[in-house]
Amino acid sequence: MKIAFFDTKPYDKPAFERYGAGADLKLKFFETKLTEDTVELASGCDGVCVFVNDTVNAEVIDRLTELGVRVIALRCAGFNNVDVRHAFGRIHVLRVPVYSPHAVAEHAMAMLLTSVRRIHKAYNRTRDFNFSLQGLTGFDLYGKTVGVIGTGKIGRVFIDICRGFGMRVIAYDKYPAPDSGITYVTTEELFRESDVISLHCPLTEETYHIIGAESIDRMKRGVIVLNTSRGALVDAEALLAGIKSRKIGAACLDVYEEESDVFFEDYSGHIVEDDTLARLITMPNVLVTSHQAFLTEEALAGIAEVTVKNLLEFFQTGCCENELCYRCGKIDDSCRGQRPRKCF
Ligand code: NAI
Repeated sequence: MKIAFFDTKPYDKPAFERYGAGADLKLKFFETKLTEDTVELASGCDGVCVFVNDTVNAEVIDRLTELGVRVIALRCAGFNNVDVRHAFGRIHVLRVPVYSPHAVAEHAMAMLLTSVRRIHKAYNRTRDFNFSLQGLTGFDLYGKTVGVIGTGKIGRVFIDICRGFGMRVIAYDKYPAPDSGITYVTTEELFRESDVISLHCPLTEETYHIIGAESIDRMKRGVIVLNTSRGALVDAEALLAGIKSRKIGAACLDVYEEESDVFFEDYSGHIVEDDTLARLITMPNVLVTSHQAFLTEEALAGIAEVTVKNLLEFFQTGCCENELCYRCGKIDDSCRGQRPRKCF
C-alpha cells in the first residue's frame, strides 16, 4: 500500500521508517503541506498521512476520492482541520487518539514555570554575562488556583502535575468525569477564581474563542493564560488587548489561531506578515513555542506506531478502532459507546 506523507519534517522520518519497515506500507515523504494545490501528489496512493496544519477540507477530500485514495491517517489527536462530516461516506479518517499526554502536559508546565520564574530572560542574560536579578521577580505556584478547561487525558495529567506543586485545582468540562476527584465549577467561577487558566479541550464550534474579550473581562487581574491545545480557542486580538491593558499577567502559547501560515517553518530573516503574532511575540510576558508540546521521543514513537497500526488494520479489515466519524461517537461525546464497528 502506498501512502503519501505530507508536511514531513526530519524528526518524523526515523520513527515512521522504523515502524513502517516491517509492514506492507510504502511511505512517500513530501515536505509540502496537503492543500488544494498539492493534493495531486497523492495520485497513485492508497492513503495519505497528514498533520495538524494540513488542509483537509471538502475540496481536498473530493479530489482525494477522485484520485482513488481511500484513507486519511492523521498522525495527531486533534482533527479540527478535517471536514469530518464531508468525509463521511467518501473517505475514511483515522487518528492517533492517545500517544503521550505527558508530553503536552509537561510542556504546559514547562511554559508556566518559564514564564513565572522568568527563566527565558535569565537564560539570555547569563549568556551575556549579565548576572543582574533586576526584573526577574517571580511568584510561587504553591497555593495558587489553576483552572483547567478540558479534563481528558492531557488535562488530567496536567492536574496531577499542578497538584504536585501544591496548587488548588478547579476545572470545567462539558462532560465532567465522575469519581475523578476533580472539583468541577462553572466557567464563570473558573474565570473569576483562577490565577492560571490552562486549556485542554478540543476546538469545536462551542469552544471557539472560549478565551475572548468577554471571558477575559471576567478573569482575575494578572491571570496567566496557557494554551497548548488549539490556537482558535483563544481570540488572539482579545488576548493582545488584555496583555496591553495589564489584565492578563502573562500568556504561554504553544498554538496560535493563524499558526498554519507560519508554525513549523523557519522565518528568521523574513518580515512576519501577521501583526498580531508579531506584537504578541514582542511582549515581555508572552511566551510562544511553535506547536512543539507533542515533540518528545516517546510521543513521536507512539504516533508512528499507532498510525502504522491504524493503516494496517484499515487495509486488512476495512475498519479501524481509531476511525473518526461524526455520527458515532468520536466527535460528539454524548453518543460515546454506541459506535458500530464499521462507519460506512
Ligand atoms: P481528550 O479527548 O482526552 O480530552 C478532551 C476533553 O475536553 C474531554 O474531557 C472532553 O469532555 C472535553 N471537552 C469537550 N468539549 C468540551 C467543551 N465544549 N468544553 C469543555 N470541555 C470539553 O483529549 P486530549 O488528548 O486530552 O487532548 C486535548 C487537546 O490537546 C486536543 O483536542 C488537541 O487539540 C490538543 N493537543 C495539542 C498538542 C500539542 O502539541 N500542542 C498535542 C496533542 C493534543
